[in-house]
Amino acid sequence: MGLLLASRLVERTFIIVKPDAVERGLTGQILARLEAKGLSLVAAELKTIDRATAETHYGEHAEKPFFGDLVDFITRSPALLAVVEGPKETYKVVRTLMGATNPIDAAPGTIRGDFAIEMTENLIHGSDSPESATREIALFFPGLA
Ligand code: RTP
Ligand code: MG
Repeated sequence: MGLLLASRLVERTFIIVKPDAVERGLTGQILARLEAKGLSLVAAELKTIDRATAETHYGEHAEKPFFGDLVDFITRSPALLAVVEGPKETYKVVRTLMGATNPIDAAPGTIRGDFAIEMTENLIHGSDSPESATREIALFFPGLA
């Protein structure tokens, strides 16, 4: 019974190893950090995100001045799209490993803190809530029930 209950404490979240990270050869190191923390890969695909999908994904930022640059950046070359799984609040585990949005503020030991220096080129996306995770997994991996 304990095992059965524990197995239900599973949450999935969505990540993008962004084009800058793939270009710089950091994909393996970034995934290794998530796996070393205890998260598991459920699905992954290397592809160039099309403009329409990027605009939907970052729709919450559509009115922001940086939106065009953000869409240009995320669609410029292949990115590694992935779903990872772990315990309750897995989205938060990923966000903690990522570090602050602006790499200047990101703590050492985080992915952005250790490897990034510019705002747009901040290496990794992670869903910011379980609701965002559900929406983003459906957008990028519609076959994953
Ligand atoms: P992400 O969605 O990519 O995981 O990043 P995040 O949650 O940490 O940050 P968010 O507020 O969702 O912003 C999305 C991406 O937009 C760029 N950004 N630029 N110039 C600016 O003020 C600004 N603010 C955000 C960043 O590349 C950020 O990752
Ligand atoms: Mg975000």
